[in-house]
Amino acid sequence: MVRALHSARFERVHIMGWRPIIKSRRDWEDVVPHLHDYADVRAAFSWEKAFKELDGLPGGRGLNIAHEAVDRHADGLRRDHLALRWIGKTGETQDFTYARLRELTNRFANVLQQLGVGTGNRVYALTGRIPALYVTALGTLKHRGVFCPLFSAFGPEPLRARLAIGEAGVLVTTEALYQRKVAGIRDALPHLRHVLLIGDNHRPSHVPGTLDFHLAMEQASDRYTIGPTAQEDPALLHFTSGTTGTPKGAIHVHQAVVAHHTTGKLALDLHKADVFWCTADPGWITGTSYGIIAPLTNGVTSLVVEEEFDAERWYRILQDERVTVWYSAPTAIRMMMKGGVAPVHKYNLSALRFLASVGEPLNPEAVVWSLDAFGRPFHDNWWQTETGGIMIANFAAMDIQPGSMGRPLPGIEAAIVRNTEEGSVEVITDPDMQGELALRPGWPSMFRGYWNEPERYRKCFVDGWYLTGDLAKRDKDGYYWFVGRADDVIKTSGHLVGPFEVESVLMEHQAVAEAGVIGKPDPIALELVKAFVSLKDGVEPSEALRRELLGHARSRLGAVVAPKEIAFLPSLPFLPSLPKTRSGKIMRRLLKARELGLPEGDTSTLEN
Ligand code: PRX
Repeated sequence: MVRALHSARFERVHIMGWRPIIKSRRDWEDVVPHLHDYADVRAAFSWEKAFKELDGLPGGRGLNIAHEAVDRHADGLRRDHLALRWIGKTGETQDFTYARLRELTNRFANVLQQLGVGTGNRVYALTGRIPALYVTALGTLKHRGVFCPLFSAFGPEPLRARLAIGEAGVLVTTEALYQRKVAGIRDALPHLRHVLLIGDNHRPSHVPGTLDFHLAMEQASDRYTIGPTAQEDPALLHFTSGTTGTPKGAIHVHQAVVAHHTTGKLALDLHKADVFWCTADPGWITGTSYGIIAPLTNGVTSLVVEEEFDAERWYRILQDERVTVWYSAPTAIRMMMKGGVAPVHKYNLSALRFLASVGEPLNPEAVVWSLDAFGRPFHDNWWQTETGGIMIANFAAMDIQPGSMGRPLPGIEAAIVRNTEEGSVEVITDPDMQGELALRPGWPSMFRGYWNEPERYRKCFVDGWYLTGDLAKRDKDGYYWFVGRADDVIKTSGHLVGPFEVESVLMEHQAVAEAGVIGKPDPIALELVKAFVSLKDGVEPSEALRRELLGHARSRLGAVVAPKEIAFLPSLPFLPSLPKTRSGKIMRRLLKARELGLPEGDTSTLEN
């Protein structure tokens, strides 16, 4: 039995006992999607052709992300077009045309020049969504430095680790964040020569050992010529987490801009008249690839909203700014769902044309809900820090199977693979079989290394495939379905958290003998960080100690990374209380199975 429910552009087809399909009715109103026919566009696509849509530096001096994002528009017909509209926490707005953005980013490139910061030097930013962040990122790229954003909810320890690993030479941050999180670790950062502070409440900053950001900008010239930039010159450093060891700094090069631009166009369907809003935090890669670069290379107006999530405020912004393309994430969408559709319907959201989501599995119900709430479904897409840009997507002109991540972008070859006993991988061609999601290397925004860790990088590639660490299935129509992670990393509110980083901080505490950290399923955040702790001999578990450990972790790691729950494990004489393999690795999988009351699976390597 088939039941159809109509919205203006989409038809929801229910087949009894089967998940609904959201069919695109292909009446394009006034904007025809760039990727109007998947098979045709994919067949005709090549990265060489995509590259030709960019300008390159004048005089054939190479390819620079900031030139493509800012200067080529500032030199052309879009010079007076609004590039960024910033909406501050108090509702104040600041507008930046492409011409103004060129002037400001030139100034910041000159600031770096005057400080003697060499090309390739790492310039870090630790700020919320404020205009200085965008100027810092693009000015650094102009100066051919390597831009590295940090997440402002991190505590001092994750910040120290990331600043130290990437040998940060420059840090741009706010006076408040510096005093709270950086001043205490500065001595441990010998490479950090320059700290530029943005004063609170627009006041100049006078902290010893730092410079005032705005004063330095005022004193710098607004003219700057970008030097020759090779496509393979490093441009961006983005930290991500693995199961073990320190955070990994994924390196991206200037050539990545070809993928940022193309995916902005094909997967987010950006057209020149669009008002685009990416809600990602600037500390994560989405905040750079799609919060800064892709919208600007595509010449649209990009909205920057300083304040964090608030459903009603978001609907008002969508209405008042007449947002046309909106890129958000499942945690926020689930929070909106909690409020129901009625609050959404109070607003006139007729400008909205395309909604996309990334970062974690998007529940099928959320896709269907968004059709009811906004008259348009959220289009899920998939990528990761290492891929630099969107790899698999539900495109504007495509029928959506809610729960699926969509199909690979033109120029991207994906496969489901399994490991063989000989240590190679084998492509699984049968549909609906679970395996590891793999990509054929060679797209422009593929990471070119983990900072100073060639071995860790090498291990990501087997038999000519990049192994993503995600488990997935491909159906007979070529749609990909996310199954889970192949490793122990945790996704909490869209943020990837490495359990090892959390365990290490817990073990700093004098009462803790060992710690094992897992992601515990959560209806809103997807997973919550939960720690299992065994105490040193003679230390008794208590509620006061639990609170102390939670506080300790929070002050060292910051709110996002710190565990929300801590459980004490019974201490057994002569036996480790955490389940471990014979080689001494914590079996987090087992901790998780026990927490959830699930079968323990293969425990043949278990020591105790
Ligand atoms: O496990 C996948 C999940 O997020 C991981 C990448 O996280 P990160 O490197 O922080 O990427 C930020 C940029 C998106 C992936 O390996 N993930 C991402 N998108 C999806 C997803 N899981 C399910 N569905 C998605 N659409």
